[in-house]
Amino acid sequence: MIFGAILAGGSGTRMQSVLPKQFLTIGDAPVLIHTVRAFLACEEIDHVLVGIPPVWMDYTRDLIVRYCPGAEVTLFPGGATRTDTLFAAADAAQRTFGASDSDLLITHDAVRPFVTRQMLLDNITAASEDGACGTAIPAIDTILESDDGTYIAAIPPRARMYQMQTPQTFNITALRNAFASLTPAQQAILTDGCGIFTACGKKVRIVMGSTKNIKITTPPDLATANAFLAEKE
Ligand code: CTP
Repeated sequence: MIFGAILAGGSGTRMQSVLPKQFLTIGDAPVLIHTVRAFLACEEIDHVLVGIPPVWMDYTRDLIVRYCPGAEVTLFPGGATRTDTLFAAADAAQRTFGASDSDLLITHDAVRPFVTRQMLLDNITAASEDGACGTAIPAIDTILESDDGTYIAAIPPRARMYQMQTPQTFNITALRNAFASLTPAQQAILTDGCGIFTACGKKVRIVMGSTKNIKITTPPDLATANAFLAEKE
């Protein structure tokens, strides 16, 4: 089975808004609803699950009823970290719908509402073939490394640098096995599934993303998102 796991368990502190950023409105609907609609429109996905901070579960249930009437969306409580929410998604998917070794989990930041059908299809193909993939784009800016935030330690060649996005898609059994093989220290610093695979030396395929697949993080991102939506209309 192919599960869509929309991760909306964060609090969005950098947005500095009382309402978590996944619930802020862009265009005609909350950010989260745009993302849910993109997943529901992809019929290759068997079930859509959304991880929500526990206190926002009823609020989200009402949003889904209002904006996506009749849609089958499974809500589950998110965890304290993004990785916790990711594994809560894997648990909720397999607990609710049964487990098989070929199950795929398409994990996606709820706050990336411009995910396209093509990205979702490319993720499904790549993860079916290679077990793990992540969406990315070639780095636009030159990236520098710093150990202390004051001095540059290294400037890797830009041609080798990519900016990570989501969706990231995994075979669920392979994801669990990879995570179990890491030390608690490694497990604690990882924030995404691709990092889990690379930390244990496994190949992760790159799927091409888009500069429009932005992660809504700070207030100016809302204006950008509204401009993208206006352009679409
Ligand atoms: N996320 C999650 N569970 C968490 C933390 C984050 O599902 N415990 C989700 C967020 O809801 C978001 C995505 O992961 O859709 C990317 O998170 P990010 O924007 O980096 O983090 P937030 O906690 O939402 O924001 P901030 O870092 O500004 O507090």
